[in-house]
Amino acid sequence: MNNKFNSILETHVSNYSHPLLYKDFLKCNLGNACVCNIFAGMNNPKRYLITSALPYANGPKHIGHLAGAYLPADIYVRFLRSQKKDVVFVCGSDEHGAAITIQAMKEKTTPKAIVDKYHALLESNMHDLGISFDIYHRTSEKIHHETAQEFFTTLNNNGNLELKESEQYFDETANTFLADRYITGTCPICSYDNAYGDQCEKCGTSLSPEQLINPKSTLSGNPPSKKKTTHWYLPLDKHESFLRQWILVEHQSDWKTNVLGQCKSWIDAGLQPRAVTRDLEWGVKVPVKDAEGKVLYVWFDAPIGYISATKQWALNNNKDWKPYWEDKETKLVHFIGKDNIVFHCIIFPVMLKIHGNILPENVPSNEFMNLEGDKMSTSRGWSIEMDEYIHDFVKKENGGDIMVDALRYYLTAIAPETKDSEFTWKGFQDALNSELVAVFGNFVNRTFVLMHKLCNGKVPPLHQTIIDESDLKISNDILHSKKTIEDCIEHYKFRDALFEVIDIARKGNKYMQEKEPWIVAKQVGENGLPVPEAQQKIDNTLHYCLQLSANLAVLINPFLPSTAKKLCYMMKVVEKMLDWENAGKMNLLSIGYSLRAPELLFRKMEDIEVAEQIEKLKLKSKKIMETTNEKSTSADTAKDKVSKQTIQFDDFAKVDLKTGTIIAAEKVEKADKLLKLEVDLGAEKRTIVSGIALHYKPEDVIGQKVVVVTNLSPRKMKGIESNGMILMAEDPDGKLVFVSSDVTNGRNVN
Ligand code: MF3
Ligand code: ZN
Repeated sequence: MNNKFNSILETHVSNYSHPLLYKDFLKCNLGNACVCNIFAGMNNPKRYLITSALPYANGPKHIGHLAGAYLPADIYVRFLRSQKKDVVFVCGSDEHGAAITIQAMKEKTTPKAIVDKYHALLESNMHDLGISFDIYHRTSEKIHHETAQEFFTTLNNNGNLELKESEQYFDETANTFLADRYITGTCPICSYDNAYGDQCEKCGTSLSPEQLINPKSTLSGNPPSKKKTTHWYLPLDKHESFLRQWILVEHQSDWKTNVLGQCKSWIDAGLQPRAVTRDLEWGVKVPVKDAEGKVLYVWFDAPIGYISATKQWALNNNKDWKPYWEDKETKLVHFIGKDNIVFHCIIFPVMLKIHGNILPENVPSNEFMNLEGDKMSTSRGWSIEMDEYIHDFVKKENGGDIMVDALRYYLTAIAPETKDSEFTWKGFQDALNSELVAVFGNFVNRTFVLMHKLCNGKVPPLHQTIIDESDLKISNDILHSKKTIEDCIEHYKFRDALFEVIDIARKGNKYMQEKEPWIVAKQVGENGLPVPEAQQKIDNTLHYCLQLSANLAVLINPFLPSTAKKLCYMMKVVEKMLDWENAGKMNLLSIGYSLRAPELLFRKMEDIEVAEQIEKLKLKSKKIMETTNEKSTSADTAKDKVSKQTIQFDDFAKVDLKTGTIIAAEKVEKADKLLKLEVDLGAEKRTIVSGIALHYKPEDVIGQKVVVVTNLSPRKMKGIESNGMILMAEDPDGKLVFVSSDVTNGRNVN
């Protein structure tokens, strides 16, 4: 701590004589008069470093992710930038860990191909939705590998890591250790039966493989065995008192309760040493001799990605990265979703502290956003992917940026800041139609239309002598709202802040409604124009409404940047007007300045669009669930091969088998395996859907004799009702062949 702060501390101690704690500074009863505010509140940091959780580049990300870690960070950053703060906003793809290699297996390709594909997708999605990172980096870059290795080496050389041998889960069939996502089982907390070895995606709890009930390998599906291996551990237990003091005391009053709650339960449960290396091929190699086949744990290297991204940003911009991570006057803020809390509040801070870096000032974490009554989930198809939204609303229409802002608006208005929230298409439509269009858009539109009609398309003069109470009130309201918005954003309450912006537009509408300039304009003289007094009243009203519109542009800018830009265009002002210091000023537009015609700021959402989206969501999830079921059915069949239960003769006798001839066959749309067959059973013809398309073309099976199970209850497959099942034999190569002999159709098979 430098001298300046020492003297501040001394002044403070003499004013306030008890042990010095950060929270005491915050409660200092001298308020703003006390110099401690400079020190304690970090109210005026020299620079800001803002991070958003690095998404895994293993697939598209949905709008719940956007609402959790990207959009709020972007609003915060845009707010800081509009105040000309020194701020760097970093993010990038998390390209290591089992999340990537497992996806590569699924897509039958390499991890490298996976990260290349999804990094490009995520980068462009974020850009299209207006998330204004200063850099969107990748953890596969060389500079990241070097940075992470240096970090590890420093910790290791300083004796901050422990090398330990332990028994870990191992898959004998796949001949590999099973860490993190390679092992699944039942969550000990919420009983979800598909929790990963490092985390339960259902309840967000961070886990270790040993905690899973009935663990099994994701590679073979088998229960794992145990095998000895050596790893480096971060002894979190040794840092307990630091964590207690730093989180539960010093940040007790400024971190969100959900974050503090999770941290407290972690610390209270007893911190354990945590392995920071893994036996895997894909990742940052452990920079130690004889550590072949070992990489850094993804949750060790990924947050260091914030540092390497800052380094790359500095290189690109000819800046020094170090102060951002080493100078105490930097305010570091991590925006994350709730499943990332422990990593950002416990593990990474311990790493930063022992490595000699600054610690985050805050870790504003959001809860989850549900969708139409269910948990949002890409794997279950119950989601709106960012990419899908962009495809359906942004790229499709001219001026798609309107719909970018619409989404930003709704996601902020329902942000899960304190508890889980819910996205519904109806809710989106309501927010769009009755708030953005009916309140904000309507106010600006009326102002511009009337200004063109009643004031020659120019900013009218302000007649001082007739300024009345409601004119003064609207000016005051703006100033007051500006302060409220600032306060909310500084405390990460983006919902409330946005509400306040809309509220100001609402007040604008009320003001206009009271003043009724269109009625005043009816007091015309002989020349057909409003009489001078009437014109003066009109001038004042529209003068204020225009200044209010300019203020709305400044205030909405962090939230809906395209809207703010469009307002600047309509007002023919440069975007510099959007500087935050302009908020609250009632002279942003010069008198006599001519303005453009109003532009469409927002558009309504139609009922049909709501219905279409809901239908689309249901279809998507149904389709995905069907393919997953198809997969599990084939897995079941595989199991059956080994262990079919013995059944009684009576059971068998219930099965009705008949002979038949296939008389027609066609492929089932969007199903690789299925053929729709028409089978002649002598007395009747039946439609049967059969899974033989991989073995036979439709034309090959027509005329084939088959044995059919005729008394199975009908089953729908891809929308077609199947009334029976064809029996086939499997030859030694796994090919299905017909069991045929020349008998007439409709005979019993005994
Ligand atoms: N990839 C992680 C996730 O999607 C987040 C990593 S954040 C970082 O949950 F700090 F590690 F970068
Ligand atoms: Zn759980």
